[in-house]
Amino acid sequence: MRDDFDTSELFWIVQNGFKFTGMPAWPGEGRDDEVWPLVAYLEHLPETSPEEFAAMTGDSGGTFRAQHGLDFGVGFESSGEGLLRYCATCHGEAGARSVDGLVPALAGQNAAYLRRSLEEYRQNRRQSGMMETVAAELDTDTIAELADHYSRARPADQTVEQRPDAASIERGRAIALHGVPTERVPPCAACHSGTKSDQFPRLAGLSAPYIEVQLQLFHDGVRTQSPYAEIMHNVARYMNREEMEDVAAYLASLPPGAVMGAEDVLAGEGR
Ligand code: HEC
Ligand code: HEC
Repeated sequence: MRDDFDTSELFWIVQNGFKFTGMPAWPGEGRDDEVWPLVAYLEHLPETSPEEFAAMTGDSGGTFRAQHGLDFGVGFESSGEGLLRYCATCHGEAGARSVDGLVPALAGQNAAYLRRSLEEYRQNRRQSGMMETVAAELDTDTIAELADHYSRARPADQTVEQRPDAASIERGRAIALHGVPTERVPPCAACHSGTKSDQFPRLAGLSAPYIEVQLQLFHDGVRTQSPYAEIMHNVARYMNREEMEDVAAYLASLPPGAVMGAEDVLAGEGR
């Protein structure tokens, strides 16, 4: 694939579909932004031999898909190790990072949140051309097993992705802990402290690009089709681009599982 097309051509192909092969245009409504991680995924594929790809997808049709690259989401093993290897082609193996900053880390995330996310993709209540295609193939029991599996998995260290902009991280930290009272932005820690509700996702350990995109989607009303997403819409709608970038930089600087603000203690601040 990578030998035949350069990155911008891949982007165009995925966004518009292969007109003459019947490949549909991108299915996630309002989600042109996520064509990029798919391009990253496709670029990653050539490093995988057809045999490895067949092993990953757990199915002899894998050779065909490896050659054509684009037909993911159909015919993969619907449970067990084969399925986990399939998820790992984008989300990374246990302990490793995902293939792209726009693909979220799953390890250590709350089980109830993971389960609900997969159900919402499946029911077309959370828009993503990539994950809707994947989740459509999963049944309720498998979704519960996957959520349980990833919530127990040990998170990978994402810190290499950090942008070392100390001023931005510091501004983001203030937003996370205190909000922006003049703009009606509440403190993120009020809900995302990790203990509030299993339905509120953990943010520490997610990458900055992923957090920024999700905040923009909540802001723009693209991710608003569940009562929980509605809560976040009412947070993000008051945020501007710079605040989103700052808070994402701060959250991405935290190690997975960290409690917001706890780094004060480590740094010896506030004494
Ligand atoms: C082709 C790449 C790809 C594959 C394969 C894939 N995912 Fe995803 N996944 C993504 C992307 C991209 C997102 C972010 C989508 C969005 O913006 O909502 C995502 C999001 C998710 C989320 C939401 C996480 C959060 O923090 O909100 C869950 C849960 C998830 N994937 C689980 C899985 C599971 C389980 C599998 C295997 C059955 C899988 N994914 C396979 C690319 C992929
Ligand atoms: C009143 C509670 C509340 C507050 C305050 C809040 N959030 Fe959220 N947040 C939620 C809920 C609930 C969800 C799950 C939404 C869903 O499932 O679609 C969420 C989801 C998110 C996600 C998506 C994570 C993922 O894995 O896809 C991000 C990013 C996020 N919040 C960032 C923030 C930031 C940054 C702040 C502070 C500016 C903040 N939140 C403040 C309740 C809150």
